[in-house]
Amino acid sequence: MLSIKNLTASIEENKILNNLSLNIGKGEVHALMGPNGSGKSTLSNILAGKEEYQILSGEIIFNGNNLLDLDIEERSQKGLFLAFQYPVEIPGVNITPFLLTALNSKLKKEGKKEIDNLTFAKNIKHIASELGIQKEMLSRSVNEGFSGGEKKRFEILQMSILKPLLSILDETDSGLDVDALRVVTDGVNKLRNPESSFLIITHYQRLLDYIEPDFVHVIHEGRITKTGNISVAQEIEKNGYKNLI
Ligand SMILES: Nc1ncnc2c1ncn2[C@@H]1O[C@H](COP(=O)(O)OP(=O)(O)O)[C@@H](O)[C@H]1O
Ligand SMILES: [Mg+2]
Repeated sequence: MLSIKNLTASIEENKILNNLSLNIGKGEVHALMGPNGSGKSTLSNILAGKEEYQILSGEIIFNGNNLLDLDIEERSQKGLFLAFQYPVEIPGVNITPFLLTALNSKLKKEGKKEIDNLTFAKNIKHIASELGIQKEMLSRSVNEGFSGGEKKRFEILQMSILKPLLSILDETDSGLDVDALRVVTDGVNKLRNPESSFLIITHYQRLLDYIEPDFVHVIHEGRITKTGNISVAQEIEKNGYKNLI
């Protein structure tokens, strides 16, 4: 699904990622943990297609495509979803038509039949209620005045509608209260299926109490220093990163 091979990348002459390799298979949930400044956000920004980074070597293959050849729009059409991909406020654009447009553009690209307003309005209400998202939210403007928790709810809603092949959630737990954290973790657990993969970037083990990842990776100084199962996260919780980097 995603194969990152020997990726070395810099920003403003500073090498941040250092020969980093990571493979994510279909249907797998991977957690990426690491101390501040280890390169987690740099990696997700590069996957997202942000342009300020220099790729010095390595490759990223996503579902058979050379990811680095694709622009941001193409990446999302190929099934990559980044939780912070649309953090902008779009005043006056309601969530429901926004998501319908996104979904229909995806269906059209796949040569599938588009969905009409009425059917979609029904579907989205159903999905929102399953995710514990209040229906009032569906008529709000995209991200306008959203709290941290509401932004996360909206991301989960987007993922439920667009059904990406790979979802990347960066720092999903920063600043979330317990309820918002549960919406995110329950959402991911509901969306887990053999076709959908997840990369969950987090500082804290507490998120992983709710989402049990198949693999946990530790990143330090721009490379993966340890890969294992949930016990790696438990070790971090107990002793910090000292034995893992
Ligand atoms: N625009 C930038 N210019 C220079 N250095 C940067 C820039 N962005 C990030 N870095 C550096 O890259 C390193 C990794 O940052 P980041 O990927 O944000 O870490 P993490 O998300 O793991 O906390 C840090 O040392 C940070 O200072
Ligand atoms: Mg970060």
